[in-house]
Amino acid sequence: MHKAIGIFDSGVGGLTVVKEIIRQLPGEDIVYFGDTARVPYGTKSARLVGRYAVQDAKFLMGCGIKLLVAACNTVSAIGWEELKREVPVPVVGVIEPGCAAAVKVSKTGKIGVIGTEATISSGIYPEVVSRLDSTVEVMCKACPLLVPLVEEGWLDGEVTGLVVRRYLSGLKGKVDTLIPGCTHYPLLRVVLEQEMGEETVVVDSAGAVAGCVKELLREKKLLAPSGGGGRNRYFVSDDREGFSRMARLFLGEEAIVVEEIDIEKY
Ligand code: DGL
Repeated sequence: MHKAIGIFDSGVGGLTVVKEIIRQLPGEDIVYFGDTARVPYGTKSARLVGRYAVQDAKFLMGCGIKLLVAACNTVSAIGWEELKREVPVPVVGVIEPGCAAAVKVSKTGKIGVIGTEATISSGIYPEVVSRLDSTVEVMCKACPLLVPLVEEGWLDGEVTGLVVRRYLSGLKGKVDTLIPGCTHYPLLRVVLEQEMGEETVVVDSAGAVAGCVKELLREKKLLAPSGGGGRNRYFVSDDREGFSRMARLFLGEEAIVVEEIDIEKY
């Protein structure tokens, strides 16, 4: 049997990447792990995030995967070296694809990035963008309240609108492109677009990651033969019910079977 693509995140955020991979690569099987017992990662230290990422990867490796997607900016920012050291299959992170898409789209050369505290204070976004184009200016803002709002399913409404407005006030009108630098944030896309206004493009970072996965699978000759796919499995470390509800709502699939595992064993 063909091996699956392994994808993990601290919670439901990585489903934004799953959705795009299903769309762009319908022939592939996916095995997803959401670390719902230990979410959020974005407020934790590099030591802890690195350890969590390796455990998440080890669990997925045990499921027999051909490629791993760290569908979490925080892991891609501060747990990357540790993860890459431990994982024998190709690993795709979420930072480069989002940066490349933003650089391509921006006309004024002024890009905004929002993300978790850990991602923003790592300085990884300005670093990667300047590697791609040293003339581009990057303005960053940490938005620690957005992950709990998404995990709670508050994707719009008054409270979410106010929080988003407060966080984006320093970026609005100053950038023409916004990178949602956290895989939870595409779920807030409508609110982000409303708040930034028509002049600003909110980058489809999940779509860019899926494009990268497709490219890498093709290059490594690992693409699944056509006609298969869709045997997707979902695992969490806690709150199976809450995750299923969000996953069903977001992926629009009727029956999603979610299994619970003890991630500390890995
Ligand atoms: N969705 C993840 C990210 O992209 C993690 C957010 C969190 O757990 O704080 O950063």
